[in-house]
Amino acid sequence: MKFLGINIKIPGLRKSIGIDLGTANTLVYSKGRIVLNEPSVVAVERESRKVLAVGNEAKEMLGKTPDTIVAVKPLSEGVIADYDITEAMIKYFIKKVFGNFSITMPEVMICVPIDVTGVEKRAVLEAALSAGAKKAYLIEEARAAALGSGIDISAPEGNMIVDIGGGSTDVAVISLGGTVVSKTIRTAGNNFDMDIIKYVKKAHNLLIGDRTAEEIKIKIGTATPLEEEEIMVIKGRDLITGLPKSITVSSEEIRDSIMDSLMEIVTCVKDVLEKTPPELAADIVDKGIVMAGGGSLIRNFPDLLAKHTSLHVKLAENPLESVVRGAGMALDQISILRKIDKAER
Ligand SMILES: Nc1ncnc2c1ncn2[C@@H]1O[C@H](COP(=O)(O)OP(=O)(O)OP(=O)(O)O)[C@@H](O)[C@H]1O
Ligand SMILES: [Mg+2]
Repeated sequence: MKFLGINIKIPGLRKSIGIDLGTANTLVYSKGRIVLNEPSVVAVERESRKVLAVGNEAKEMLGKTPDTIVAVKPLSEGVIADYDITEAMIKYFIKKVFGNFSITMPEVMICVPIDVTGVEKRAVLEAALSAGAKKAYLIEEARAAALGSGIDISAPEGNMIVDIGGGSTDVAVISLGGTVVSKTIRTAGNNFDMDIIKYVKKAHNLLIGDRTAEEIKIKIGTATPLEEEEIMVIKGRDLITGLPKSITVSSEEIRDSIMDSLMEIVTCVKDVLEKTPPELAADIVDKGIVMAGGGSLIRNFPDLLAKHTSLHVKLAENPLESVVRGAGMALDQISILRKIDKAER
């Protein structure tokens, strides 16, 4: 705060937040806790492009909206698909956290996938400033996930993090605060849902929606065989009669249907390991791999990755929150982070 030309810092007034702009959900972290967790959805009036609702309220409208209103997911596959709407979303979330009549403007750390272009980075930074941030920084999701998983990324040793979100998987080896080797693929949690929809359609002539597919995945999806395979009753529309119908699917069938996608992620991890400098690879042998992101919650996924890499694999404490926690923590540790994109008013 400036008073009579003198800079006065009042610690309690420093506002900083971490934002994880996920394909599926946006999370905001402030002062050691998650203060917001809402779907990354915006409801827009078709003609005027006027924003009508954001987050939970907008998600309710998905699939049930009249023709004049469209529910948009501004991020697809982890990248910004619609700049104006993303800006509106960031604005809404910042306002929701700080209220309308905020005196101090927050410093914001936003997560982006590793492979976003310079133009996309600028777009996110500009969106944050125009949404009311005083300073905005970007950190790649993988580096944030590592920080948020409790890894000491400033140490001179290699750490591997695998962040499997809804739209993209980021694999990175991090050392001394920077990313040494990384790879992003557009195969992640949402692909498992698509695989399940395709399988159920082909094998059972049954059409199911995204939500049902996600439910099946969460309930009986596994990456390795179970001692006792499970079954689930699912409902959909029979493709032949056109009528609603319910059938039973097994965990075994579901595993088979998502296996190709699971293996694409395993292959991506192996590619990064092959490109890792030997010294850092040796550290990873000692410390193992950490998995984060909602996609890593498929049952026994760590076991599948361990089997194919012969390394120890563990799940972050709270995989859905690692990235946003890391973003919040990053603001306090800016000095140890190498290469951070930044913009300020
Ligand atoms: N218990 C679970 N088992 C399996 N998958 C899960 C579970 N919980 C959430 N998911 C999946 O995790 C994905 C969302 O994860 P996350 O919130 O990390 O993604 P995101 O950060 O929004 O996406 P991205 O990082 O790709 O932009 C969704 O595909 C969701 O279905
Ligand atoms: Mg994510």
